[in-house]
Amino acid sequence: MGKKRLGVGMIGGGFNARFHIRSWVSVRDADINGIYDKNYDTAVEASSIAKSYNVGEAKVFKSVTEMVTDPSIDAIWICSPNFTRIEVMEEIVNAIESGKGKLVGVCCEKPLARNVAEAKKMVALVKRAGLLDGYLENQVFEPTVQRGKEIIWKRGAFSAGRPYLARAAEEHGGPHSPWFWEGTLQGGGVMNDMMCHSVEVARFLLTDPAKPRTSITPVKVTAHVESLKWQREKYSEILKNNSSGKLDYKNRPAEDYARAVVEYKDENGQKLIVETTTSWCYVGAGLRLSMELLGPEYSMQINTLDTDLKVFFSRDVQGKAGEDLVEKQNAEIGLMPVVGNEENTYGYDVENRYMVSCFLEGKRPMENFDDGLNVTELLMAGYMSAEQEKTIVFPPPGLDEFVPLVAQGKWNPTKK
Ligand SMILES: NC(=O)c1ccc[n+]([C@@H]2O[C@H](COP(=O)([O-])OP(=O)(O)OC[C@H]3O[C@@H](n4cnc5c(N)ncnc54)[C@H](O)[C@@H]3O)[C@@H](O)[C@H]2O)c1
Repeated sequence: MGKKRLGVGMIGGGFNARFHIRSWVSVRDADINGIYDKNYDTAVEASSIAKSYNVGEAKVFKSVTEMVTDPSIDAIWICSPNFTRIEVMEEIVNAIESGKGKLVGVCCEKPLARNVAEAKKMVALVKRAGLLDGYLENQVFEPTVQRGKEIIWKRGAFSAGRPYLARAAEEHGGPHSPWFWEGTLQGGGVMNDMMCHSVEVARFLLTDPAKPRTSITPVKVTAHVESLKWQREKYSEILKNNSSGKLDYKNRPAEDYARAVVEYKDENGQKLIVETTTSWCYVGAGLRLSMELLGPEYSMQINTLDTDLKVFFSRDVQGKAGEDLVEKQNAEIGLMPVVGNEENTYGYDVENRYMVSCFLEGKRPMENFDDGLNVTELLMAGYMSAEQEKTIVFPPPGLDEFVPLVAQGKWNPTKK
């Protein structure tokens, strides 16, 4: 692009955007020059966080169009809720096509969309506008994932043969904003929200680093979803109270547990397995990400709660509930793991550094909207499998039009 520094604008200034902002201290050659959030106060707060971290002047914009139009903005990171993807992307593309502004590229948070039709629209829009595109799947960029993959493939696979099994899990006690819990807004329950990470990181680990994504092909998907905790009387009441009465988990729950097995074939027809499990009903210290990669003579494992730092507080230590030790923290006393640098551990640093350098070099990132679309296709096949209680041969007919029952507000396992 000829530029030496990238000016980035964030759409959405909430929980996730703040992870990006804090990670920016490790990003070179780019500044956070703008924030747009539908809620003005949230944008102002996010902007002041950016300023306090000295990662950019973060002007507060009043619309997506105004942000695209500003010459200090070269690229946009979409960090607003899932149900806003299409409207946000359409506004970006309209602003470019009407000649109001210019951009190099757009990055979009996970999941790319709520279903395949929307994901395909995101891909079509970004291509139509001629923009570079990055899919913000941070777990692929976790330093342990990157390093583990490198070592396993260089030593283990090189000498004993390729890995055949990857496992990934993401679990915590439930999301922080009410919209995540509403199937129609979010696109599903925990499978759409968190298994998007797990299927992609497991696929990434199983893929030969010297080969493209297409070197392994998904052939079957078998999934299972349940509502284990949050439909219980006590917990559905909590959700109702936290959402001013909007969430109705007695009648309109979203799944809080999901597991899926994705069977792949490599170029030699060899079977590979991805095994994923996710839940919003894990009550441990906080967010737990785990990954494993197994091959004929080796294995690797990651568990983000296996921290090197642990603190202990006796029952006499009193303090407010917070998230200062680990994301989605559930307790403040006893023996507690502390993630020293969450932005780094969860992959935000490396992800943002990588996306910025791709955009400055005018190169399409290796994790892009097509990957986001592939993830959505796998998840939708997963919902089909769970609804039909059978293994789905991939890709199944009707995948493009499929909208899970939970995303239609029609899923209720207690009324089967
Ligand atoms: N990579 C990860 O691990 C990770 C973690 C959390 C969230 N996310 C993703 O990031 C996105 C945002 O999640 P969050 O946790 O920040 O949610 P959040 O509810 O904390 O914040 C969302 C923000 O977007 C704003 N907003 C709503 N509609 C908007 C619109 N049309 N335009 C601009 N702003 C709008 C809201 O006012 C809110 O401040 C979601 O897609 C989510 O899936 C990813």
